[in-house]
Amino acid sequence: MAMASTYAPGGGAGALAPGRARVRGPVGLVSLGPTRLGGLPRPLALARRSPVAAGARLRCAASSSSAARPVTAPRFIQHKKEAFWFYRFLSIVYDHVINPGHWTEDMRDDALEPADLYSRYLKVVDVGGGTGFTTLGIVKHVNPENVTLLDQSPHQLEKARQKEALKGVTIMEGDAEDLPFPTDTFDRYISAGSIEYWPDPQRGIKEAYRVLRMGGTACVIGPVYPTFWLSRFFADMWMLFPKEEEYIEWFKKAGFKDVKLKRIGPKWYRGVRRHGLIMGCSVTGVKRERGDSPLELGPKAEDVSKPVNPITFLFRFLMGTICAAYYVLVPIYMWIKDQIVPKGMPI
Ligand SMILES: C[S@@+](CC[C@H](N)C(=O)[O-])C[C@H]1O[C@@H](n2cnc3c(N)ncnc32)[C@H](O)[C@@H]1O
Repeated sequence: MAMASTYAPGGGAGALAPGRARVRGPVGLVSLGPTRLGGLPRPLALARRSPVAAGARLRCAASSSSAARPVTAPRFIQHKKEAFWFYRFLSIVYDHVINPGHWTEDMRDDALEPADLYSRYLKVVDVGGGTGFTTLGIVKHVNPENVTLLDQSPHQLEKARQKEALKGVTIMEGDAEDLPFPTDTFDRYISAGSIEYWPDPQRGIKEAYRVLRMGGTACVIGPVYPTFWLSRFFADMWMLFPKEEEYIEWFKKAGFKDVKLKRIGPKWYRGVRRHGLIMGCSVTGVKRERGDSPLELGPKAEDVSKPVNPITFLFRFLMGTICAAYYVLVPIYMWIKDQIVPKGMPI
């Protein structure tokens, strides 16, 4: 069994409380006073209510605090082009290297449980579905004909197409931040281990809200931020490892209700999260109204049609890939510790 625990934040935890907002700076971002969530005080860069919009929509410049990459956390692969090339190579070994260390079948089933896949007739989309590992968990509950797998990497999708159990699933290329589906289409939106590559995670979650039908559930499975300094350094160099409260904030800002977070992890971690986890939590929220998200965003953080300096690209790609290698070693280290340290003792 994978380790799991549920963390359901109090109603006020990540809520926007627009009445408390103070306008800061020229970009339309607003900073709320320090917010306490999960015992951690932290400032939030959040939205303000548009004074002109009839529907009082929430407006936010290129998304939230985590979308910006500070110099100390350049997150070299949290770019669409770099992620594309990263998976050009990783897709060759993905199922054999990544899943056994970071994303086991036990963990997947634990993580999908809050998505409530109770009927074979639910219409489900798996965004950033890659080689189809999570989709395999979905089709245990839902007819493959009702499932769509979308990813930006044709190389990952090619692996998915080879899987017998996924015959019948609609497999297509697309961008998580700009989904090619009409509003109010799916009963379930699932995305596992993809948000960390999105340049603008808030935009992706807003899209999740848009494509869901009223009463539908979104389930985003992703990393959690490390607390150990060395792990934090490599995480910050590689990609986005959000804090738990950031997921909740993104969901609530997108308009989701009943937002819940469940902690997951490989069983040999014995609950340790200080190195961060590439698959560390499953966050769910329910869409209670028809139509698009109440959140309005500014321009996209990354425009893939714009040319990128090849030297900058190569530097980011190589640095990100080297730093990612650290996270191949972490589960091996934790697995060895689990073998050595007597059961029941902390590791
Ligand atoms: C760690 S893999 C996860 C694959 C799969 N969900 C699983 O559970 O094994 C991350 C996937 O996200 C995809 N991805 C990254 N950025 C994306 C984007 N903007 N839109 C769609 N897919 C994206 C990558 O191509 C990759 O296949």
